[in-house]
Amino acid sequence: MQFSTLLATAVALTGATAAAIQNSTVKFTIESPNQDVNNKGLSSIHEGAAINYFFAGEASEAFGFDTKTGVISKTVEIGGNQSYEEFFGIQQGGNFQSLQTSPTQDNTKWAVDNGYLTGNGSDSFFAVKGTNDPYNYSEESYQIGIVAPHAPNVYKEVVPIKIKANLQ
Ligand SMILES: *[C@@H]1O[C@H](CO)[C@@H](O)[C@H](O)[C@H]1NC(C)=O
Ligand SMILES: *[C@@H]1O[C@H](CO)[C@@H](O)[C@H](O)[C@H]1NC(C)=O
Ligand SMILES: *[C@@H]1O[C@H](CO)[C@@H](O)[C@H](O)[C@H]1NC(C)=O
Ligand SMILES: *[C@@H]1O[C@H](CO)[C@@H](O)[C@H](O)[C@H]1NC(C)=O
Repeated sequence: MQFSTLLATAVALTGATAAAIQNSTVKFTIESPNQDVNNKGLSSIHEGAAINYFFAGEASEAFGFDTKTGVISKTVEIGGNQSYEEFFGIQQGGNFQSLQTSPTQDNTKWAVDNGYLTGNGSDSFFAVKGTNDPYNYSEESYQIGIVAPHAPNVYKEVVPIKIKANLQ
């Protein structure tokens, strides 16, 4: 086989792989020196009008990850053959910004860098107790999000974490 043919074959194969992983399944696991959260899965709990917040749990929830557009989402079936799309995003604005799923897509560009989830290029996330979430789950469980750089220290516990993305 000529070298040019080999090259063309390699390009074709690479193209096929890229297309195949466009919407792959992703699950998230926490990595931290703190053993209370290390290796815990990210799972979401309903806390408002179609809003789910993420906590350090035993199970890792599965999402679809379009690695081309940087959108992470899942289809939620609501019965009667109806469904809607929930987007993985960040609740912007406060001192503690919750990682959430919501029917509204935000503009965060999600990616996987060295195996870790990044949002707009940052891989710094936190597991926090005492966030004042609506149902007070964070009194007992670690809620996942971003702590704003100059946030006042009003939380029960703030643990820096990285989020490992297991693409399948
Ligand atoms: C991507 O995959 C997820 C999980 O399998 C699914 O819920 C979602 O609807 C898919 N998104 C697209 C755009 O196909
Ligand atoms: C859902 O769709 C299937 C196939 O189109 C149909 O057979 C079924 O009756 C539908 N169910 C409801 C609750 O609409
Ligand atoms: C990421 O950047 C977009 C575009 O600037 C912005 O709308 C979005 O809020 C940012 N997300 C985070 C988590 O900072
Ligand atoms: C959560 O805690 C706050 C403050 O202690 C309290 O006012 C509120 O009623 C609690 N919410 C629930 C759902 O228990």
